[in-house]
Amino acid sequence: MPSQNIASASPHVLIFPLPLQGAVNSMLKLAELLCISEINITFLVTEHIYSRLIRHTNVMSRYPGFVLRSISDGLPDGHERSGARYMEMFDSMKYNSKALLKELLTCGELEQGGRGPVTCVIADGLMSFVFDVAKEINISMFSMRTLSPSSLSIFFSMPQMIQSGELPFTGDDLDTPIKSVPGMENFLRRRDLPSFCRSNTLSNPSIQLFKNESQENARTQGLILNAFDDLEGPVLDHIHASCPNIYTIGPLHAHLKKKLAGTSYYRTASSNSLRKEDRSCMSWLDSQAYKSVIYVSFGSIATVTRDQLMEFWYGLVKSGCKFLWVIRPDSISGDGEIPAEVLEGTKERGYIVGWAPQEEVLAHNAVGGFLTHSGWNSTLESVIEGVPMICWPYFMDQQVNSRFVSEVWKLGLDMKDTCDRVIVERMVKELMIERKDEFTKSADRMAMLAKKSLSEGGSSCSNLERLVKDIKATAG
Ligand code: UDX
Repeated sequence: MPSQNIASASPHVLIFPLPLQGAVNSMLKLAELLCISEINITFLVTEHIYSRLIRHTNVMSRYPGFVLRSISDGLPDGHERSGARYMEMFDSMKYNSKALLKELLTCGELEQGGRGPVTCVIADGLMSFVFDVAKEINISMFSMRTLSPSSLSIFFSMPQMIQSGELPFTGDDLDTPIKSVPGMENFLRRRDLPSFCRSNTLSNPSIQLFKNESQENARTQGLILNAFDDLEGPVLDHIHASCPNIYTIGPLHAHLKKKLAGTSYYRTASSNSLRKEDRSCMSWLDSQAYKSVIYVSFGSIATVTRDQLMEFWYGLVKSGCKFLWVIRPDSISGDGEIPAEVLEGTKERGYIVGWAPQEEVLAHNAVGGFLTHSGWNSTLESVIEGVPMICWPYFMDQQVNSRFVSEVWKLGLDMKDTCDRVIVERMVKELMIERKDEFTKSADRMAMLAKKSLSEGGSSCSNLERLVKDIKATAG
């Protein structure tokens, strides 16, 4: 556990995540793991994230070596920072935050309180401007990607996909196979590519961003991934070709819990949520039968139309299974209100909350399935608890994650590109009743491998030890 007086000679890492819930969550967990290993951390977030983080997380008070700092993203306060406008923030950060970061790293301010100078930076691999700064001032740098390794492998293959004519594509035939991603030739289709690839022009800003920035990971000292070797072996082999030094240290949330087990920090280990959790669903779950409930949640960004919400609701109710459904206040497009008939009609079969303690929900023995948007954190949280999934991917890496869940890992069903009450009903019955034993068996097997990776001598455990050693070496 962290000692109360960390020597000023300790390594000092500046961690800078992408301003997104999933990315901040994962990197905070990395920060905690490093704090436990007596490494000083400056966790740098944009002001927009800072104001939310400070309200809901208690990580600051847990570790003497942890300091939270903020930096402007260059946009005015009221500027929208989600959906299609996300790219504007990204562009603004590239130009405005870069100079501010350099100033912060060189002015001596971060050394206050007996902390030595920053000896290395860990930034999201999409933020190459951070690596430019680290290079200019000559400090070590590591990149971290919080998306799935399979999506990263696709980003690395984008130049080949363009060269072979697989990107960009036009037309509706989303079942056309994609052959340019090594190891995925037998199952990858256009519809499984990250959603922004569904564009008929290469000038699409997301295609440019992911193609170009991904190549930048290669110039850092190592790449940190929230994954474990047994899950992604062949994909990792491909990433190795571009980034020879990889640290797979996931599933991060479970890794952290394991390190904190038996300490006073354990009970609060997961409370880094940027939203307030409604814990009442835990007592509702306590009153449900073993593996009888399907948990429904589409993460922190995805939105649904009112029509889609109604299709899910009818499908869930008609399936006859009990359900726990997260409907965020900002998740229904239009007026944002949950229709009265949904609220009223759910009382008998289900429970609705605005935000759940998801890791605990997935660990609850009443939960037997997860209808998910296939965000990478949600996927790993489900994997380690051995919960089979129905995938309804929304965007980004979620399209490929859902393909891996259904076709490669055999952990569930892929419902992408449809939203129909009959299909929802059929898939829920298939997952929770008809093929329950088959899916539970493969989910249990994968959960066992995940846990093995975190045990003494396991791949994620050893990789974290190696990362800590390499970071400590940056302090000379
Ligand atoms: C974003 C992208 O959408 C996703 O594709 C990428 O893989 C990561 O970044 P997000 O929508 O935030 O992800 O989904 P996800 O990665 O699954 O993260 C959501 C997090 O919020 C999870 O850690 C989950 O436990 C948490 N959560 C979600 C809650 O704590 N309570 C909830 O009610 C819902």
